Amino acid sequence: MGINIYKEKPVSGIKGKDLLGLSELSKDEILDILALTESVKKRGTDLNYQPLKGKTLGMIFEKNSTRTRVSFEVAIWQLGGYGLFLNKNDLQLGRGETIEDTARVLSRYVDGIVIRAYFHEDVKKLAEYADVPVINGLTDFEHPCQALADLFTIYEKKKRLNGLKLAFIGDGNNNMATSLIFGCAKVGMDITVASPKGYQPKKEIVNIALRDSILNNSKIIVTEDVKEAAEDADVIYTDVWTSMGQESEAEERKKAFYGYQVNEKLLKMAKKDVIVMHCLPAHRGEEITDEVIDGPYSVVFDQAENRLHVQKAILISIMGD
Ligand code: CP
Ligand code: NVA
Repeated sequence: MGINIYKEKPVSGIKGKDLLGLSELSKDEILDILALTESVKKRGTDLNYQPLKGKTLGMIFEKNSTRTRVSFEVAIWQLGGYGLFLNKNDLQLGRGETIEDTARVLSRYVDGIVIRAYFHEDVKKLAEYADVPVINGLTDFEHPCQALADLFTIYEKKKRLNGLKLAFIGDGNNNMATSLIFGCAKVGMDITVASPKGYQPKKEIVNIALRDSILNNSKIIVTEDVKEAAEDADVIYTDVWTSMGQESEAEERKKAFYGYQVNEKLLKMAKKDVIVMHCLPAHRGEEITDEVIDGPYSVVFDQAENRLHVQKAILISIMGD
């Protein structure tokens, strides 16, 4: 593929820093992570390449995870380090020890922390009190590592990012929509979010991203109309209607999102070479049909694989010497 437009070097700008959200990364930092991802992916599993030899990564999970947990654990191990999976309920954190004390203590043992938590504010607090970098492995607000893998996947498939149109169909107010709005604006991609009323991106989020989109000559459009989003889209992206933590709203959401399914009819409105993305896990038959997720336009499993390569680039950039 050759992301030769990007600089082939580790991302020096984020060494030792937290990665809490895509809004906090600069355009160059994002492009540099994608470039490094390309080189680590090309290298494959090379146990002679151990830039994180002797480093430990604490991985706190308050919610379920397949991709984030496994890709971080495999990534740190393949890079020469060690990852400790820490279920929140097994930690004293699950019995009421404070986030502040947990942060202080873990900082004495590990070189970095990945955390998946219900509340973004908790992750911010952990980062504030930890002396080691904290990486957001998903909160109610953002899922930055997933969005970086998504941008990398789009680049791999389309050979460019700038000027493409991504249509996000579904819950415009969830963590994926927010991270993609920030990410697309940073790299100059147009994003149109189609969501029912009450589930559209908050104005504050769009306003944060607007500055970047203006600088990068791209558009952010919010609509109720799936056709407006899908028309001429290079990428159609969807995610579950009910995110983790919102289970009590599932029935109400199923009704609200009726008509927001990514199916073959919707694909016909997009460009002929459209790709379909989903961060997974999918609720097949709700936000996406079997025919589409298993069909020729779907790149969802390449997208899932790329989580591993992107995690490596993130870990090397933040925790490498
Ligand atoms: N996409 C994603 O983050 O998947 P998991 O919930 O399995 O980690
Ligand atoms: N929006 C989904 C993403 C899962 C990876 C959730 O938060 O459950």
